[in-house]
Amino acid sequence: MLIVGGNIDGFTRTMTTAITIETSKGDLPLAIGLGLVLITLVVLVNAAAFGLRRAGERFAAVTMRAPVTDLPIVLEDVSVSAGGVTILDRISLALVAGSPTVLIGPNGAGKTTLLRLVMGLIPPTRGRVTWGGREQAASTHRAIVFQRPTMLRRSAAGNIRYALAAAGVPRARRAAHALELGALVGLTGLERRPARRLSGGEQQRLALARALAKEPQILLLDEPTASLDPAATKAIEDVIRKVAASGIKVVMSTHDLGEARRLAGEIVLMHRGRVIESGAADTFFADPRTEEARRFMRGELLV
Ligand SMILES: Nc1ncnc2c1ncn2[C@@H]1O[C@H](COP(=O)(O)OP(=O)(O)O)[C@@H](O)[C@H]1O
Ligand SMILES: [Mg+2]
Repeated sequence: MLIVGGNIDGFTRTMTTAITIETSKGDLPLAIGLGLVLITLVVLVNAAAFGLRRAGERFAAVTMRAPVTDLPIVLEDVSVSAGGVTILDRISLALVAGSPTVLIGPNGAGKTTLLRLVMGLIPPTRGRVTWGGREQAASTHRAIVFQRPTMLRRSAAGNIRYALAAAGVPRARRAAHALELGALVGLTGLERRPARRLSGGEQQRLALARALAKEPQILLLDEPTASLDPAATKAIEDVIRKVAASGIKVVMSTHDLGEARRLAGEIVLMHRGRVIESGAADTFFADPRTEEARRFMRGELLV
């Protein structure tokens, strides 16, 4: 009897390809009986192997569904220097799940640099950044919107579809999904407009939709309402609130204290590359601990 083991379709099977059974007395019924026993054995072994494989797949599906999270993002004694200048100076900070963390501070404080570091776009010069406890975490779960996002030379919907393609969404689902994302950021009716002809506020909302195409856990926004009028600012803030309510962790910078009060759960006040004060927004605004925070809130210049 010849039993052949082989690899078919990615897993091992055994097959009986030829059976030759010899008995000493030429007892044909016994030979057939033995042959049947062997065939039954082979069938049983294959059935057991198939069962094990299915169970293994189910187990793998369960374990793979365990969410990989980038939170908390922890900065331990992090500095960033460039060209001999210390841009971030020994920052220790934890960004945890929950309501938005808002970075405030004067121009040049290091807000943009901190957002780029948290995104993983630049490495720390010293110290350590971890995402969900991992030092090497691909940016799959994070998205960033820069202060002046660049629109692709195509329609608003085309810009979102491009982001969906980059995020690996199958072509057949992109058009419908682009419309949903457009609606989420309040761009319904403008989908066919060339993106570069949209107003500043509309372009910012389109940039938000593109960032959301990635289905991020963490959304980083660098001064998303800079140079927008009050109506456009409110439209953006409404989207940010919706995004935060959906469970996405928002980390944003702003020059606008009013905006920080309206959106922040946590405040991080930066100055000259350092974190001057951080903590719950309620406490920060009601009872700032540092003289710099008090002066910043009075609208005095921090130098
Ligand atoms: N690549 C760089 N090389 C040298 N200096 C830089 C670089 N990037 C930023 N800076 C400087 O670091 C400081 C902080 O910049 P930034 O993070 O943009 O602050 P903010 O966003 O709070 O205005 C600024 O003085 C800026 O000029
Ligand atoms: Mg900046």
